[in-house]
Amino acid sequence: MTNISNRDNQDIKLLPEDVSNQIAAGEVVERPSSVVKELIENSIDAGATEIIVDIQNGGRNLIITDNGSGISPDQVKLAFRRFATSKIQNESDLWNLSTMGFRGEALASVASIAKVEMKTRRRQDSQGTKITIHGNVITSIEPVGTGYGTTITIEDLFYNTPARLKFLKSDSTEVNHITELLQAYALSYSNISFSVINKSRETIRTPGNSDIEDTVRIIYGKEVSDNTAKVDYSSSYGKVKGIVSKPTYSRGDKQKQVFFINNRWVKVPFITKMLDEIYSDLLPSHRHPVVVLNIEIPSQELDVNVHPTKKEVRFQNYSSVYELVYRGIINALYPSRNEDNPNKEADNNIVSIEYVKPLEPYTPTNVYPERRNDNFSSGNVSSNTNRYASAPKEGTYQVQQFSFYDELREYRNHEDNREDLESIKPIGRIYELYIIGYLGNDLCFIDQHLAHERYLYEQLELDVKSKQELLTTIMIHLSEPEWENYNENRILFEQYGYEIQDFGSKTIILRSIPSVLEVSEAENVFRQVLQEMINEEGRKKALDKLTHIKKTIACKAAIKAGKHLDMEEIKILTIGPAGVGVTVTR
Ligand SMILES: Nc1ncnc2c1ncn2[C@@H]1O[C@H](COP(=O)(O)OP(=O)(O)OP(=O)(O)O)[C@@H](O)[C@H]1O
Ligand SMILES: [Mg+2]
Repeated sequence: MTNISNRDNQDIKLLPEDVSNQIAAGEVVERPSSVVKELIENSIDAGATEIIVDIQNGGRNLIITDNGSGISPDQVKLAFRRFATSKIQNESDLWNLSTMGFRGEALASVASIAKVEMKTRRRQDSQGTKITIHGNVITSIEPVGTGYGTTITIEDLFYNTPARLKFLKSDSTEVNHITELLQAYALSYSNISFSVINKSRETIRTPGNSDIEDTVRIIYGKEVSDNTAKVDYSSSYGKVKGIVSKPTYSRGDKQKQVFFINNRWVKVPFITKMLDEIYSDLLPSHRHPVVVLNIEIPSQELDVNVHPTKKEVRFQNYSSVYELVYRGIINALYPSRNEDNPNKEADNNIVSIEYVKPLEPYTPTNVYPERRNDNFSSGNVSSNTNRYASAPKEGTYQVQQFSFYDELREYRNHEDNREDLESIKPIGRIYELYIIGYLGNDLCFIDQHLAHERYLYEQLELDVKSKQELLTTIMIHLSEPEWENYNENRILFEQYGYEIQDFGSKTIILRSIPSVLEVSEAENVFRQVLQEMINEEGRKKALDKLTHIKKTIACKAAIKAGKHLDMEEIKILTIGPAGVGVTVTR
């Protein structure tokens, strides 16, 4: 039995290499997918353009073949020694990594917990080398006839670490982990052809033609690839490329969200949260987009040496990364807002659309499904019905889109558009998404959610202190981080019409709330605003908190697409501050 006095008497000795390798393997190799990760990263580092992964027994047996550089005969043994690497030489190289490997640990770790055979040959060598290692002991090394590149065969993973073996899940779960990993790498490295064989059946084969959309089709299927927008954005700080799904496709989970930073597959919680934020108004709740992003930032800005599995990274400058990725996604989803779009000036935001003949006759009943009770529709609609009686001819129509209120205001103020100085005249709604109206002689469509959000935002701007007293106060118990955040930002809430009383034990009472909020939404919005602030550690400094609170309150309180509006509400949205998301046809 080991007790303190015993330990005091023991001499300090260096652990034998096989034991220290096994300890390291405990950190690096959690399960079969970790072995696959290490080996394909080595293949990628070796410049392979083709990687084949053959899986048997839920990944306890693996064969990984690449057409990369291979290893010279005199270095093969060394490759399996711990801390032996060809990829870095000194500490400063750690901050300028262009490879995925750098620790010189992977092969030593894998070889200490499995039976390993490697065949490898460089292009300049007339023959290759074959080495077999069982539990870190080299059992043979000899010349061999083999093709260019490297093939590693892993047998009986964890054969000498029964505790680890016991922790493995079912074969299908382990294979799922491997598949998820290989899908992510195949998507990110669309220039490499990945083949995956499970139980002698090929399950994935990507073309390796550098076309991300082709690769997405093969990995995630046609439905996903037909509904994606391409992300391709660079700034002075970095680059972001990949795809995001359009709101026409979504999933009930976040499993198809893949992030690579400087070619490393990593989890980036703050980007996941950013996606939630961006898509919260585009998708129904609990639905999530498919995302594949390759982010490139200066290598000195990224610390990858944080965790043995390299899955976590640290950034020097979170807000720059946030800004880069945010803009990349927004530009992909809303191309008309893209300030850097070189064609923007030239096309002056005017796009041509083909007029498509409607399947059903274009009658007012299709257009105004709800014209029941408002006198507005009975007056104007009937006169406007006549316009529709002569349905538009087939042909090309010009559509001008205004994404921002300011653009619309500028348009209206322009001399040529003087007739438009009067407000938009609403005439009805389509599918509870858009309000249609006249802007001078033009027909326009207004996104009701965006218009309302803008309206609320401006209301807050005009009268930040406007508040409504609650007849029944609302008691909210806050979590520790919410509480801290609330305390830090108490004054800001007060400026926006919140009157809040402490009740003790992290419980607060809302006595009044901003007048733009519905009482039924008050608690939700309060928590959401707090939550957003928690998530934005890195962004706090960069973004003006006040604007953010205003935007959040406005966005959360704004009516969603699909909500029924009465005519009074429609009028409010189309007068004055409305105009966001307006499309005008001529
Ligand atoms: N498939 C391969 N093709 C060519 N060389 C390889 C291959 N796999 C490993 N090597 C060589 O063996 C060395 C050791 O590999 P190992 O994975 O143990 O360490 P590493 O990749 O340098 O660092 P890390 O432990 O971070 O992965 C590598 O530096 C590389 O030179
Ligand atoms: Mg490696």
